[in-house]
Amino acid sequence: MIRTRIAGTGSYLPEKVVTNQDLEKRIDTSDEWIRERTGIRRRHVAAEGETTSDMAVQAARRAMDAAGVSADDLDLVVVATTTPDKVFPATACIVQRKLGMAGGAAYDIQAVCSGFVYALDAADRYIRTGGGRNVLVIGAETMSRILDWDDRSTAVLFGDGAGAVVLQASDTEGIISTHIHSDGSLEETLHVPYGVSTGYDTLCGGKAFIVMQGNAVFRKAVSMLGEIAHETLDGNGIKKKELDWLVPHQANMRIITAAAKKFGLPMDRVVVTVDEHANTSAASIPLALDIAVRDGRIKRGELLLLEAFGAGLTWASALIRY
Ligand code: UT7
Repeated sequence: MIRTRIAGTGSYLPEKVVTNQDLEKRIDTSDEWIRERTGIRRRHVAAEGETTSDMAVQAARRAMDAAGVSADDLDLVVVATTTPDKVFPATACIVQRKLGMAGGAAYDIQAVCSGFVYALDAADRYIRTGGGRNVLVIGAETMSRILDWDDRSTAVLFGDGAGAVVLQASDTEGIISTHIHSDGSLEETLHVPYGVSTGYDTLCGGKAFIVMQGNAVFRKAVSMLGEIAHETLDGNGIKKKELDWLVPHQANMRIITAAAKKFGLPMDRVVVTVDEHANTSAASIPLALDIAVRDGRIKRGELLLLEAFGAGLTWASALIRY
């Protein structure tokens, strides 16, 4: 039986840092409000001309080094992103070119903040059914380019970055199960209201920014995360106490704390990095995973629960023996 293991992780944050104090100078907000309501202290912002694929490649190279694989070893690249370089081709194809990958396949997945876990789901199924042996899965976002920096209800929440994993066919336990859900009836709780087919230029003059009903997203997120955590553990006959780490979507400290409390997991088993980089959408889980692997919190053989929620609304989880 073919299984899928994480062979290596990597991440990248742009050099430019925007602190809460920097935002205080531009909009009617305060460091205190942002920290209390979100736990965020700073976010990283892509440099002028720096694109989603540039950040994806940086994270990918680190994950490939950690896994000991080269571009020639890769069979597939999947990029989860909401902020592609171009309308087409897929950002994954641009990453493929920049990595110098001669063969294989590449495509993008769009499930907003749940995108990385959706991509894990697809890549795991690809490997298990014999599609290929090495798959690069990346979450990468330049959220700064779809933010209205004068709207305090969203500007303080998001940041840019990328995270990646190399998945490898294996005969030992790795990804145990993945679970994906969506509810399109909640489309307008969190969205960018314009796109190519709705008339991007004529309707909004190129100003396509994030619009969010913060309270509604908050309530839904906490209940969806609780439900999917139970679905994942119950589906595998695993008890909460067997989990070593919860690696949640890094959207907001209050959501992470409320979800962990509802699930009954102490915070010392929850990976939290949102203070350092804010909500980086599809990049947030692989970023948190890589940070916790590299600082020694997450060790080989430990049991991880990844869980995400985002626009769609979408929500997703993965149970992984790291
Ligand atoms: O990947 C998913 C992405 N989305 C999320 O994770 C968002 C989930 N939602 C949340 O995390 C919270 O709803 C927020 C952090 C966005 C907002 O917190 P809240 O406790 O729900 O605040 P609120 O929207 O109810 O606003 C409370 C007050 C309002 O003022 P008044 O009407 O009480 O005078 C807002 O205008 O806070 C005000 N406010 C701010 N004040 C200072 C809203 N944004 C800010 C701000 N700085 N940045």
